[in-house]
Amino acid sequence: MESSTLARLLEPEVYARLADIEYRPADELALASRLRKSGLDPDTAAALVSQAALRLAAAEKFGPFAAGMLFTRDGLAQATRLPVAAHHAQRMLASDPQVIADLGCGLGADTMAFAGLGGTVEAVEADEVTAAIATFNLRSLDTVTVTHGRAEDYDLTRASALWLDPARRTSRADARGNATRISDPEAFSPSLSWAFTAAEQVPATGIKLGPALDHELVPPGWEAQWVSHDGDVVEVALYHGEARQEAGRNALVLGADRAVRVHESEVPAEDEDRIGELGDFLFEPDGALVRAGLVTALCAPLGARRISKPIAYLTGDRLPGGAGRALVRSFRIRDVLPAGLKPLRRALVERGVGKVVIKKRGADIVPDTVRRRLKLPPGEQATLVFTRLGEDHVVLLVDEVTDAA
Ligand SMILES: C[S@@+](CC[C@H](N)C(=O)[O-])C[C@H]1O[C@@H](n2cnc3c(N)ncnc32)[C@H](O)[C@@H]1O
Repeated sequence: MESSTLARLLEPEVYARLADIEYRPADELALASRLRKSGLDPDTAAALVSQAALRLAAAEKFGPFAAGMLFTRDGLAQATRLPVAAHHAQRMLASDPQVIADLGCGLGADTMAFAGLGGTVEAVEADEVTAAIATFNLRSLDTVTVTHGRAEDYDLTRASALWLDPARRTSRADARGNATRISDPEAFSPSLSWAFTAAEQVPATGIKLGPALDHELVPPGWEAQWVSHDGDVVEVALYHGEARQEAGRNALVLGADRAVRVHESEVPAEDEDRIGELGDFLFEPDGALVRAGLVTALCAPLGARRISKPIAYLTGDRLPGGAGRALVRSFRIRDVLPAGLKPLRRALVERGVGKVVIKKRGADIVPDTVRRRLKLPPGEQATLVFTRLGEDHVVLLVDEVTDAA
């Protein structure tokens, strides 16, 4: 967004219009035209419509707070979901820091949680328009200052805790118009090596990164926490100093009503890491456990075993109870079907299956192509899992077991 557009949006009589817009994607053109007819210039009308669209999308991350905020498309894409930001705040406030520096605060989601839960925050943002929007979004929190500047220029002696969420996208868009992700940690902004050096200068540090982070990059003695929220793996956060709870890797599975944590110390020794016979159930571990490399930590508590060494599915004979339920999706195995296309088709037709949902791990297939080539006649819908049992390729016919089922 241009700074002149933001300035116009912040004019009280223009901003007031935003609350009255009932945005529906199908009405976008009509909406812009109505706003122009009411006397607004075309750029301002377009900016209001785009803010209304972003507010609607932002409710998923920010809940009711979205209705009092402004956004950029990139800023919203990069913002932490509020329940996850609240978790960051609990972690970062645990050592009771006098000042948390949030360097690269974006639109302000993490800062909002830090200050909302009682912290004093010095937020810094390198992009001028984003910094101005963050100032606006955080206007009701009187323990926050937002400065337009670079993390690298911030005086770290001011902070008793440091929060970093480095930018990991280029401004270049891919074919679908989405910003492309950067994989080289030295190209993050600020860079990962700068972040690690800065962490040595403050009592407590948290660094939010993408969940695909190479485990080798986690420095010894740090805590690396992979987090999923409502089934989506959202980040790995690295904690150091007073912000660290327990060194090493852990996975935190956040849901609406519970948080379950699994630590690497729960992973069995190699010889206990059994590959076993297929049981009655297939378990798909939460993505945070998969990314953290902690799938086998579930074997003992779930009474489960691996189906094949490199594959992140487990099998067992009973459904998980208690906290274990939050850590896996469970499927009842109805049948083991042949992996070849012709015998598979025959088996599905015999069972009256006409539509398939395809999941896969350890199988080199393209689900859409398989679905097309199966050319099934009309019939029931079923879920197929293309995977391996030991070394053998198999297709499992499964039914998901949900709490309601
Ligand atoms: C991933 S976003 C932060 C999102 C934020 N934690 C939130 O939840 O809303 C990273 C932000 O860092 C800013 N940034 C990039 N390089 C920076 C630097 N060197 N100093 C300060 N900010 C920087 C980007 O403009 C971007 O807004």
